[in-house]
Amino acid sequence: VSNADDPYYVYPDVFNDPERDAFLFGTFPEGFIWSSATSSYQIEGGYDADGKGYNIWDTFANTPGNIANNDTGNIACDSYNKWEEDVRIIKELDLEYYRFSLSWSRILPDGTADNVNQAGIDYYNNLIDGLLADGITPMVTLYHWDLPQDLQDDYGGWLNETIIYDFGEYARVCYENFGDRVKLWLTLNEPWIIAQLGYGCGGFAPGVCADGTGSYVAAHNLIKSHAKAWHIYDDDFRATQAGRVGITLNSDWMEPYNRSLETDLNAAERAQQFHLGWFGHPIFVDGDYPEVMREMIDYSSEVQGYNESRLPTFTALEKEYILGSSDFFGLNHYTTGYASKPDEWVISDNPSYYNDYAVDFWKDPEWPSSGSDWLKSVPWGIRRLLEWIKDEYGDPEIYVTENGFSTKDIDDLNDPDRIDYYQSYIDEVLKAIEMDGVNVKAYTAWSLMDNFEWAAGYTERFGMHHVDFDDDDRPRTQKDSSLFYATVKANNGFPK
Ligand code: NOJ
Repeated sequence: VSNADDPYYVYPDVFNDPERDAFLFGTFPEGFIWSSATSSYQIEGGYDADGKGYNIWDTFANTPGNIANNDTGNIACDSYNKWEEDVRIIKELDLEYYRFSLSWSRILPDGTADNVNQAGIDYYNNLIDGLLADGITPMVTLYHWDLPQDLQDDYGGWLNETIIYDFGEYARVCYENFGDRVKLWLTLNEPWIIAQLGYGCGGFAPGVCADGTGSYVAAHNLIKSHAKAWHIYDDDFRATQAGRVGITLNSDWMEPYNRSLETDLNAAERAQQFHLGWFGHPIFVDGDYPEVMREMIDYSSEVQGYNESRLPTFTALEKEYILGSSDFFGLNHYTTGYASKPDEWVISDNPSYYNDYAVDFWKDPEWPSSGSDWLKSVPWGIRRLLEWIKDEYGDPEIYVTENGFSTKDIDDLNDPDRIDYYQSYIDEVLKAIEMDGVNVKAYTAWSLMDNFEWAAGYTERFGMHHVDFDDDDRPRTQKDSSLFYATVKANNGFPK
């Protein structure tokens, strides 16, 4: 469906409000953070080096049929051996922040804090010291999807609440070893993806298929684990280390297809609550799931004959513990879709997350496409989402911890589409700050370099640097977009 084919469509004002659409020249507030990002499994390789334990992505990727071309992250960008070069290419662009993640099973091979792998600690100490020596501030993610395999095998990983303790102790080991130098922490990267794609039939590790039941349980334990890691920092480290700990949530912007229809406005809001609200509402609003989730899932569970709702409940104490457990709002955002109300809500016999919230959601085929099916360039969406977060969550400090664009032209260093994407999205962030008063503190480009794009393997590239995966040395080469981004950073925006 395209708006152009719909004679009744009321165009959102972004299309005919010249003030909203016009490119805004100007600079970002002083001290604005410009960063780029990677994650451990996607770049490190060294999958069995120096005492590292296996994790669920090692297992999943090495099982034929799960990943495009049966690619794996066994070597990836070989950052385990080439971290000095990573530091060098960041330095060359004069980016003063770098977001990366720690591999849990490199530090704790069986996932528990009973057994610490010193070689893993050394690796990250070297990386952190190397960054700091070049004036680059580390922004460290504790969990970017690579769960120690033993924790999955022993008790089902995120489906079991034992994980809350183990994740907390893992966080403690990281604060103890790195917190003297790392002052900016992210607990979980994109818990929505972990719950829904990892445990809800979405084709990501560990590949558990329990849509609408397991995904809600996994999310419940993710939220409590996050809160645990935040409280451990707050209780035992904040006073001495003086850092900040947040969570990173992902969401598309959900644009009501027809803004003159109350039902479409509600559908878009409902979709946003099921995505961002699933995690954002407990942490930033009142310790509990959004009301609309509670109502819809309770109702569909009842119709399906469950004795109790498929959406678990928090105790009063847990709510108190969860509420406020993030020092800022981390946002990963890439794209936008239209939401509308389906003609009818038919409750399926098979429980499923999407069935629970009953929204039609699609991307306009006319929006510029990328190398990934799910990613269309819709720059105005980020501004709307930032405004929504500001209003919904009480004007938090927002760190954009990922934003970026994929291509399939794997050897092309000339990447004008990525430059367009960065330019237009960054400008919409500037508008959100300047015109809407949104408190955005950081922008992070995904990614510093081409890397293992999960189920898509190496077929979809997000890097500002090209990596040659056919060359044993994995050389990194600047793409045009890296120079563009470095210029935006050097100018702190788009001065006239
Ligand atoms: C979000 C994830 O955090 C990152 O790992 C992934 O590569 C990018 N999105 C692009 O899909």
